[in-house]
Amino acid sequence: MKGTYYVTTPIYYPSGKLHIGHTYTTVAADTIARYRRLQGYDVFFLTGTDEHGQKIERKAREEGKKPQAYVDEIVFWIKDLWRYYNISYDRFIRTTEEEHKKGVQEIFRRLEEKGDIYRDKYSGWYCVPCETFWMERQLEDKTCPDCQRPVEWMEEESYFFRLSSYSDRLLEYIENNPGFIQPDTRRNEMVNFIRQGLDDLCISRTSINWGVPLPGTEDHVAYVWIDALSNYLTGINFPEGKKFKKYWPADLHLVGKEIMRFHTIIWPIMLLALDLPLPRQVFGHGWLILEQEKMSKSRGNVVDPFVLGEEFGVDAIRYYLLREVVFGSDGNYSLPALIRRINYDLANDLGNLLHRTVTMIEKYFKGKIPRPGSEEGPDKELKSEARNALQEIESNLDHLYFQNSLEALWKFIRRSNKYIDETQPWILAREESQRPRLGTVLYNLAGALRVIALCLRPFMPDTPHAIWKQLGLKKDLSKLPWQEAYRWEGLTSGVKVKKGQPLFPRLDLEEYEDWGIKEVKQEKVKKVEKENRVRERPEKEEKLLKMDRFKELDLLVARIEKAEPVEGSDNLLCLQLSLGREQRQAVAGLAQEYKPEELTGRHVAFLANLEPATIFGVRSEGMVLAAGEKGRMKIVEIPGVEPGSPIS
Ligand code: MSP
Repeated sequence: MKGTYYVTTPIYYPSGKLHIGHTYTTVAADTIARYRRLQGYDVFFLTGTDEHGQKIERKAREEGKKPQAYVDEIVFWIKDLWRYYNISYDRFIRTTEEEHKKGVQEIFRRLEEKGDIYRDKYSGWYCVPCETFWMERQLEDKTCPDCQRPVEWMEEESYFFRLSSYSDRLLEYIENNPGFIQPDTRRNEMVNFIRQGLDDLCISRTSINWGVPLPGTEDHVAYVWIDALSNYLTGINFPEGKKFKKYWPADLHLVGKEIMRFHTIIWPIMLLALDLPLPRQVFGHGWLILEQEKMSKSRGNVVDPFVLGEEFGVDAIRYYLLREVVFGSDGNYSLPALIRRINYDLANDLGNLLHRTVTMIEKYFKGKIPRPGSEEGPDKELKSEARNALQEIESNLDHLYFQNSLEALWKFIRRSNKYIDETQPWILAREESQRPRLGTVLYNLAGALRVIALCLRPFMPDTPHAIWKQLGLKKDLSKLPWQEAYRWEGLTSGVKVKKGQPLFPRLDLEEYEDWGIKEVKQEKVKKVEKENRVRERPEKEEKLLKMDRFKELDLLVARIEKAEPVEGSDNLLCLQLSLGREQRQAVAGLAQEYKPEELTGRHVAFLANLEPATIFGVRSEGMVLAAGEKGRMKIVEIPGVEPGSPIS
């Protein structure tokens, strides 16, 4: 073992479905986690969801749901998404978990003990979508400087954290640890920001309930960013857990550039105040931009990662995300660029190399990988190019230059294709005397593909296995260490190759002209999600989800006070019901089964939290439950139980 490696993604807001932008960060973190594991590190990869705060509380209210039920459903969707994208996280943390909440409370207690917390009145502006406090002087036109949406005035009693008193220590730390904030441009931005002077931070809210209650306060809940940032500690069981002792400090927090301030100012100051070591690196990557605007859920121009995966393949999307954009900078998302990458890099360069190699081994050596002979011509160069590629991949991955590392690998793939043109195996095959040379050439090509498959593993989880299978290799690819790629001679002769499907089919750009981003059909989205859910969701989660859905139902005992026919319908009755403290009217399709007077006085099961509807001109505010087939239906009766009692 080489030591530990702890990598994290931001914990995403389950305020709606995630899009390809969130997938971008998570795929990058997954690639690093896979790479470090292959190198022999003991990796801990944390991702999760940031479930509290005003934004979620509001969204849930808008949808008429309890916040917990609201987030649960989206969180299951997110977990499905990560499973679908082969994200190899070790833990998915939810800030609504009990253990996390206890951790946040412990952090608050420690900060208070340290004397870093005081009570005061907050008055200022708040951006709900960003969950950020703003001072008057930071605003233009009463809009959020980050997202340009309107901010809201806020005035409440709050607890404050003495951020300002740590600015010198933080600046000193940043200066002495140039790797802490990356890329360098972001470090400069942050240093400038800190030098302008930090205000103390409001860290509690009283006007919302959906948060972690702060100990020793009457009705304060933690400001959602304090709650969220703490996940990096509670996710490894801070304060007492073994994992915390083993993995802290984190090696890498991967985040989008818009949340760098939280991660490189608030978070390190919290850690300084807690006397804990700071993370080794916070890397703020750029945005994936769609049609010149940062993609965001609220702007509506989202790209559904399920649909993209289903249409083009998860590995192709992962490849595109990592290959197309310089990780630290902004980059455009574009469908034509994606299709070009699939056609040129994946189908042509990689797919053809495999196809040509396997076909020739089948044709000239009855499918068995031949024995290599002596080194000649471009052989040496091919092998040294493989070593160069490996070193370049490594050094680039160490700096999170995904694009360059893939470029280095593709340079080698193209070099291998060129090797075919240089050695011209089809000409060698014409002369029996050239058979040993032909064997060497094909051995080297299979060797090159073996190296390529080994190197592709962090980026694309499925494709290397497909290559491996076509090469007929038996060893478990996922168990071979990264260093194995340096062993050219690791390929054994005599194994039988097996031609398979093309790795990536070529696509016709024209066919996708109106498959545009915005045109993604809702039915298709639903279908893809459903298919993946049924196939992938573990039973336990399915069960929980069902239970949560059940909890959303407001089922009560109701007493039918009066029933009368609904005019114009021979099936409907209008019922007056008592729910104890409240009276309701509901329409029920029971006229075939019951005479109105037979129903009065009965205690029945009633679903009380439905949107009111008007049926045959009559308002209906709930539903009486019944069972059985039409014409022979029976109401669900609960005799002897008080009206208004909940059914559980
Ligand atoms: N909940 C906070 C993070 C708390 S971390 C302690 C949050 N959540 S979020 O759902 O808004 O996710 C923001 C993150 O998602 C970005 O920082 C980035 O990692 C990723 N991205 C969201 N949209 C993106 C793009 N369009 N492009 C690149 N990354 C994107 O902020």
